[in-house]
Amino acid sequence: MKRLITGVQPSGIITLGNYSTIKNVVKLQKDNPDFDFLIFIADLHAITVNQDRTKLRQNIRNLAAMYIACGLDPKKTHLFIQSEVPMHNQLGYVMECIAPIGELERMTQYKDKKVKQVNGINTSLLTYPALMAGDILLYDIDFVPVGDDQKQHLELTRNLAERFNSRFGETFKIPEPLISNVGARIMSLNDPHKKMSKSDPNPKSYISVLDDENIIKNRIRQAVTDSEGVIYYDVEKKPGISNLLNIYSFISGDDINTIVEKYQNATYQQFKEDLAEIVANELIPVQKRYNEILKSDILDQILDEGRDYAIKLAYKKIMKVYHKMGIGRKR
Ligand code: TYM
Repeated sequence: MKRLITGVQPSGIITLGNYSTIKNVVKLQKDNPDFDFLIFIADLHAITVNQDRTKLRQNIRNLAAMYIACGLDPKKTHLFIQSEVPMHNQLGYVMECIAPIGELERMTQYKDKKVKQVNGINTSLLTYPALMAGDILLYDIDFVPVGDDQKQHLELTRNLAERFNSRFGETFKIPEPLISNVGARIMSLNDPHKKMSKSDPNPKSYISVLDDENIIKNRIRQAVTDSEGVIYYDVEKKPGISNLLNIYSFISGDDINTIVEKYQNATYQQFKEDLAEIVANELIPVQKRYNEILKSDILDQILDEGRDYAIKLAYKKIMKVYHKMGIGRKR
């Protein structure tokens, strides 16, 4: 049986970019009914920057509901909250012990985030990828579906696993990243050279899965394009239109060539109107399901089951790791 894991930080907004990864996971689940799916809310990662406790609690719950609303099958998914499985911290610490500081300092996400933290940075922002490696290596994972921005963290995870295995003996499975060819990097709507990000201070740069219909449509209508007036895919020359084609493709499931052909004689305005309709039609039903799930009591049952399942696997692995390293007592 193949096993898969992925996580999202509960930092408030779930953008169209995050949604593309979740949608990819939903598709993987439909195509591979025999895979074991572990999905978690990365709340320990969220506290690398300061959070408001009331909002954070709410965001954790909301994100869990969102996963199910996006179409993950709750009967086939082990959904859990990272902080409820303490072995994540335990293995994260072990990973810190085999990760030279220079390797962590080279992570581009760390370098980007570092410059944005005006009030100084927390140590955990640097050690974050070691925790992320722990998240994955605890579970003998085959595949990790993520967006393009997590590629470097996945490479580090693989390196750390290989290093541990060669130093202490075969312990970890080496995971493969699964980066979809559409939707892996959704760009900002007002600056298509930047990744769409929930931490962007300008709300016109992103669509939140929970935005209302008018906002969703207006964001697409106002997306920055170019003045050429012809629709085709070229990330260098036409980053705005290429981004919209990517969004169209990951939501509709049509490949980019088919979409380009369909709109070869259309204006940007006609193309954007259709895309606005497609995105709204995709997200409105998700919002409806999301509100229903939040009102019901199934969420806690799902999260309890997920936590218990994860703890069972993770306990075995951390004990094996401690044993290989010679910490604790011989058992
Ligand atoms: P996070 O919360 O930043 O993002 C969650 C997922 O969304 C993807 N993503 C995007 N995909 C396409 N276009 C975008 N503009 C875009 N922005 C974000 C991310 O690649 C990610 O897949 N470190 C992770 C959470 C994490 C994790 C893990 C993931 C912690 N441990 C173990 C997988 C396995 C993060 O901060 O994701």
